[in-house]
Amino acid sequence: MSQNYQDIFNILKFYYQEKSFLKNILDIYIKKNSIEDTKTTTDYIYGIVRNDIYLTHLINHFVKKLKNKDLIYMKILFYGILFRTNTQNEIFINDFIRFIKKKFGIKKSGFFNGVARNLLRNQNFIDSLKENKQIYYSIPKELYQYVENNIDNKKLKQKIYDKMIEVPHFYFRVNKLSNGDNLLKKIEKAHIWGNIYRFNDELKLSSLEKELKNNKIIIQDISSQMIAHILAPKENEKIADFCSAPGGKSILLSELSNNKSEILSIELEKNRFTKLKENVKNYKNITPLLSDATKPILVNQKQAIFDKILVDAPCSALGTISKSPDKKYRFSKIDLSEYTKIQVNILNNALNHLKPYGILLYSLCTFTKEECVDSVEIFLKQNKNRVKLVDFETPDSKFKGNKLYTATYYNGDLFFITKFQRIN
Ligand SMILES: C[S@@+](CC[C@H](N)C(=O)[O-])C[C@H]1O[C@@H](n2cnc3c(N)ncnc32)[C@H](O)[C@@H]1O
Repeated sequence: MSQNYQDIFNILKFYYQEKSFLKNILDIYIKKNSIEDTKTTTDYIYGIVRNDIYLTHLINHFVKKLKNKDLIYMKILFYGILFRTNTQNEIFINDFIRFIKKKFGIKKSGFFNGVARNLLRNQNFIDSLKENKQIYYSIPKELYQYVENNIDNKKLKQKIYDKMIEVPHFYFRVNKLSNGDNLLKKIEKAHIWGNIYRFNDELKLSSLEKELKNNKIIIQDISSQMIAHILAPKENEKIADFCSAPGGKSILLSELSNNKSEILSIELEKNRFTKLKENVKNYKNITPLLSDATKPILVNQKQAIFDKILVDAPCSALGTISKSPDKKYRFSKIDLSEYTKIQVNILNNALNHLKPYGILLYSLCTFTKEECVDSVEIFLKQNKNRVKLVDFETPDSKFKGNKLYTATYYNGDLFFITKFQRIN
């Protein structure tokens, strides 16, 4: 494990210095160095970043003024003691202390050992931190205040807090074109609903790597899949996916219509468009289009008109915080009102492209008031006689209403979904 500890330290040091996206930092490090056990290393890194405020608070209680380097090693030790589940604490502590001794000598290893023992003796203090939500859920102060002041729905608020430290669940669906009875038997213990499955202790991602590589299964969050089901595309319908890269929802929309709907997948950013094009290339009924969804969409120089439009809008993406825990530490830099503006612009433009009584589904992987409440209110206000909110049901009948925060029903990413209908 000592090489793992060193890799974990190196990556965390790089992450704290660069203050950049954790995933990019991990990708760079893994590409440059051969890592013995990538899974253990990444599990530790994500776990520590997820629980960073909590770990730092605990460490500061037991030791004052640690140098940055030692603070990182101490976080690895505390995280290993408090969150790791596969080996006994004694074995872990001895292994980690041996690593510190080999690297820094007996004095420092004695110090780390003493702090570890002190932590183990103070279970009461550890338990008392549950009362302090901001610390316990490792939420930066601004974000905690934001949620406290802006999210009234108690169940949603608790889900948001849970997501701050939750190890994410990964969902998948079977590629209908290449499915076989053997595969369905193998994955039956992961079945959730319809064609939605979730990896669990009995069916780990590692046991389906071959199927993933051969495109027999496709990883896609349950909320993301629900969105396509709610739009319910039918054969021969004209559908537009206004913000579509990398294309996961466009592809599922196509599959749900037996690949017989006509789908226009719009994307503004060139790099993401290239990825979208590659991903949808086997679907003859999906046409990728590099275009700005806030401006008129022309097909053969004519204004395109659709039966149904999905606006899976650009957003603060705070609903994927369990998969990208570093996002929460950048909250104060996000300008939510900018997102409101672009979302309203895209919705307004989408409405112009909808036939009378056509359906407009708006989804966001976030929970903020500015994006889920303000954008909807402004859009409705600006289009009083042209559009209305309509009720919808999730296909498993768990939810009926006109505004769904998916995390209050499902254990995946935290999406917001609402449905509009054009009046005339
Ligand atoms: C939430 S992501 C879409 C994810 C996609 N629906 C899927 O399921 O794979 C939002 C996308 O909108 C794109 N985008 C941002 N502004 C846009 C605009 N003005 N017009 C079109 N696309 C835009 C972003 O580049 C991003 O790819």
